[in-house]
Amino acid sequence: MDNKKKIRVGLIGCGFMGRTHSNGYSKVSNFFPDLAFQPVLQAVCARREERVKAFAGQWGFKSYETDWRKLIQRDDIDAIDICTPNHLHAEIAIAAAEAGKMVFTEKPLARNLEESQKMVEAVERAGVKNMVWYNYRRLPAVTLAKKIIDSGKLGRIFHYRANFLQDWTISADLPQGGDAAWRMDIDVAGSGVIGDLLAHCIDTAMWLNGGIANVSAMTETFIKQRVHLDTGKKQDVGIDDACIFHCHFQNGSLGLFESTRYARGHKALYTFEINGENASIKWDLHDLNRLEFFDNSVDSDVKGWSSIHVTNGDHPYMDKWWVPGLGIGYEHSFVHQVADFLKSLETGETMQPNFRNAFETQKVCEAVVESAKTKEWKETGVEFKG
Ligand SMILES: NC(=O)c1ccc[n+]([C@@H]2O[C@H](COP(=O)([O-])OP(=O)(O)OC[C@H]3O[C@@H](n4cnc5c(N)ncnc54)[C@H](O)[C@@H]3O)[C@@H](O)[C@H]2O)c1
Repeated sequence: MDNKKKIRVGLIGCGFMGRTHSNGYSKVSNFFPDLAFQPVLQAVCARREERVKAFAGQWGFKSYETDWRKLIQRDDIDAIDICTPNHLHAEIAIAAAEAGKMVFTEKPLARNLEESQKMVEAVERAGVKNMVWYNYRRLPAVTLAKKIIDSGKLGRIFHYRANFLQDWTISADLPQGGDAAWRMDIDVAGSGVIGDLLAHCIDTAMWLNGGIANVSAMTETFIKQRVHLDTGKKQDVGIDDACIFHCHFQNGSLGLFESTRYARGHKALYTFEINGENASIKWDLHDLNRLEFFDNSVDSDVKGWSSIHVTNGDHPYMDKWWVPGLGIGYEHSFVHQVADFLKSLETGETMQPNFRNAFETQKVCEAVVESAKTKEWKETGVEFKG
């Protein structure tokens, strides 16, 4: 244990993602004992001392700060991990890169393309390691989907379909802004479901099926005014409550994406389906250990959708956990992402998704926003091919 090289992490934000990341850092060395690097919970930062002190104690951080600028200037921090609302991602990431720290940030990379571009330039200029927490790639069933697609089993791909459905903003009494409802505030979030939910779908889609070339989108804001917690007054709502877009992938396949916070009954239903010439795949976050697979080459009397329980030792990541047949959960995707990052330090390979890769996702998000505004098809300018 002691001969492992330490990566001293300074985490900023101790909300939902602050917890998932802290859990990831805490667990990784237990379940991936062969890694040469080990994260150390060096410091956590949030604005209110009482809360950040309690969080540090609960999760085992050695120290805490209430000003992220101070955290970045500390000599005993190697990596800054940004788990704050979106409006702070760019400012913190750029400052951290300039201070020579590795930088990890939650998705979306930033509120818009302009901020994202500056972030990419900052980490590349400083030459610091960086990554973005598009964690769904690290769920074993999703990673298995990638392996199956890359093996060519699907043949030519025709269709990619994804949904991310929630229902938590239907009430007109829900406010916007403040610490509790920053996702509803355009100035803080940058967009609504586009950056919050579709960004995940787009990241997974381009990882599995290559670049998205152009998009045609529509958005809706069902409740036009909400009380803003900062002013106490009813103000216009600037975010998109729902978005549907269709697109062409660079490989010629067609994509259809839908996300909303108004799908009564759905809390976090992320699903995708890919239809190829020879086979199809589908996945559902509510049953995250399973991958549905249809293989057209199987004899017709036994042909049908098979439901693969992705829990065998030879499935991605699963040799690190329990025994075949026993599932894992959402939080494991973050443990896996930490493990993959530490492994990349060992091998020298570029960790994905890094800022530059997440910038491509941001280009699609921006094109979706623009297309919905102008009611026109938009080229994304995405450069990589899958
Ligand atoms: N990867 C995922 O699946 C996923 C899921 C949820 C959220 N996210 C992303 O993670 C980020 C955080 O979301 P969340 O749900 O954890 O939000 P949250 O509201 O639960 O937590 C945000 C934290 O940031 C802190 N904070 C705000 N301003 C700060 C400042 N100036 N200095 C220090 N700390 C500050 C808050 O006190 C809070 O602890 C967002 O960018 C969001 O899009 C990603």
